[in-house]
Amino acid sequence: MLRTLIVVCFLVVATNQTSLNKIVQDNFGGVQATLRAGRRSTPTSRIIAVQNNVFQRTVRQTMDNLGLERSVAVRQVREAVESMRDRHHHGDGKKPGGFPSSAIVPLLSIPSDVCNNTIAGCDSIYPYYTVDGTCNNLDNPFWGAANVALRRVRPAAYENTFEPRGAGGDLPSARLISTQVHKDLDKPDSEITQMLAHFGQFLDHDISLTPENEAECCEHASESECFPISVPLNDGFFSALTTPQSCLEFSRSSAYCYEETREQFNAITAFLDGSNIYGSDQETANKLREFAGGRLLTGASDLLPDIEGFRLAGDIRATEQPGLTSIHTVWMREHNRIAADISNSNPNDDDNTLFQKARRLVVAEWQNIVYSEWLPIIIGSEAIDKNQLKVHRQHNGYKKTIDPSAINSFATAAFRFGHTLIQGTVNLVSKDGKETSQYQLRDNYFNTALYLQNDGETMVQMLKGLTTQASQKFDQYASEDLTNHLFPEEGHNFGSDLIARNIQRGRDHGLPGYQAFRSLCDLEEMRDLTNRRREFNDNNWDKLSAVYSSAEDVDLFTGGLLESPVRGGVVGPTFACIIGQQFSRLLAGDRHFFTHTGQAGSLSTSEFSWASQRRLRDVLCDNTDIVSLQDNVFKSYGEQKRCDGNSGSSGSHHHHRHRG
Ligand code: HEM
Repeated sequence: MLRTLIVVCFLVVATNQTSLNKIVQDNFGGVQATLRAGRRSTPTSRIIAVQNNVFQRTVRQTMDNLGLERSVAVRQVREAVESMRDRHHHGDGKKPGGFPSSAIVPLLSIPSDVCNNTIAGCDSIYPYYTVDGTCNNLDNPFWGAANVALRRVRPAAYENTFEPRGAGGDLPSARLISTQVHKDLDKPDSEITQMLAHFGQFLDHDISLTPENEAECCEHASESECFPISVPLNDGFFSALTTPQSCLEFSRSSAYCYEETREQFNAITAFLDGSNIYGSDQETANKLREFAGGRLLTGASDLLPDIEGFRLAGDIRATEQPGLTSIHTVWMREHNRIAADISNSNPNDDDNTLFQKARRLVVAEWQNIVYSEWLPIIIGSEAIDKNQLKVHRQHNGYKKTIDPSAINSFATAAFRFGHTLIQGTVNLVSKDGKETSQYQLRDNYFNTALYLQNDGETMVQMLKGLTTQASQKFDQYASEDLTNHLFPEEGHNFGSDLIARNIQRGRDHGLPGYQAFRSLCDLEEMRDLTNRRREFNDNNWDKLSAVYSSAEDVDLFTGGLLESPVRGGVVGPTFACIIGQQFSRLLAGDRHFFTHTGQAGSLSTSEFSWASQRRLRDVLCDNTDIVSLQDNVFKSYGEQKRCDGNSGSSGSHHHHRHRG
């Protein structure tokens, strides 16, 4: 009796295994992935997304056909896929990235390490950042790398395991919240400049890019990757158009590989490694290089290079708005300036040596500007101290147990605070600060006309303008250029709503509500909306309780924006806490961070002393013909000091080169 049972059991397991393999083979074997990069995707991210879709379908079929529980099905399918892959490849050791665009590749012939996190082996003495961020952490080579899952500091709160939070319809429409809470009120902040905001966007583009699916969701709302934003019938803007809009397009962020809980992922390296300047994949990185003199490729007038009709930089979003494109350009020029400087004193260095040396110094000054000049203004000195974010050279600063990867709530909510600082009408100011004109943001998304105008002179006026124009205050209000006119289609007098997208995105990612992050950040619990919490003023508290019916419904993005700023900072305590944690990980969890000593590629004393004195002002002065700037270009006050005589010599040697 016992024997028969065992035999029967064995048979059942064996048949299950055969049919499992068949299901996996049927699903994965025939599928082909089309590789084409969009605005918010890359060829690699598309592969990962397709793999996840097929994976989820296979899991469902396995559950149905074999009667397995979800978690068991997930595990078994994952194992079956991986062993099948091993048979298809014999470890070709290719890294993610580098896929040809518009190519069609069978799913199973795609290098397995995109999802498997396997790597041939790290070179522990290699002194530079790898292009895709792998091998920074030698024990966990994928930490902080491109194409890994966003990390959670609070458990996911999906509806039915992977549907967006609130998909059942019990949360207010993201567009309704946008119009009720985040309307457009002009409240300039006399202390901070637009550069603080635009630099923040540029900085974000060194840290995260969360790829999304590209579906037509207003027409096919029930498709699995769709989560369109419904517009209330009495919307003050969209309902009043001659062609009233009742729906805003929105597709879900691509899901990551073979995870049991749906996770989103980061298509770029998290490290502050200048990936926005140099790229996060080998193919892009190569396109950007001149392969002579250690230089990056430039276009006419020393603007971004024109590659196949597209102004290319390290991050695919570079031309999203002209201020951003201009900041990209200054950093590309800074790289070339430093490469020339190094080459002058090291005439025998080859192209690659010059390139890597220059890149290392550029990244060092970049990190210095972020940590010593920009971040303290955003999160205030208390959060700087608490997270040990002060710049100083130290031997034991690198902590290999810290995961530097991007945190989901950081990318999806906290670091989007910058959207409220944006001015819809942007000032152009002549290089000597005398004349001013203006342009409208809504007319210039993905439009390089102004940027290219007058051989780059208008670009210089943009940069000067960013350093003189006030930011909008950090508050719940956002410019109509973002909330009604985001990326309008050709010939349309309306666009999308960035604020509604931020809220919808948080739900798409299954971020728990604002409440859950208060406890993370040592703030008093908020169980109900009856008693005002001290982080809110009366007016903002009323807003919160008017639009949400319970405390647990409050979205992180909206709750965070309604908080009053921390002392000496721009954002409120919850965002300061999340941002502080992220930047702490990016410092302590990065083996190549410029303040560490005793690691492969650590800076010399003179290199460190050069990098730690560089300000954004210097980078602007050294790479444009702007006449004068204040010391801290993120702040509105401060005496204008002339740029000539600024010596940007790179500290890699003792020879000083002055600007002509
Ligand atoms: C004119 C200025 C800006 C425009 C047009 C813009 C536009 C956008 C858009 C369309 C998204 C994707 C929204 C989604 O579908 O989820 C996004 C994401 C984001 N934005 Fe902005 N943004 C601007 C400025 C800023 C600023 C100033 C900051 C920060 C200081 C910022 C931080 C972010 C972050 C962190 C993300 C998420 C990135 C990711 O992981 O994919 N943005 N922005």
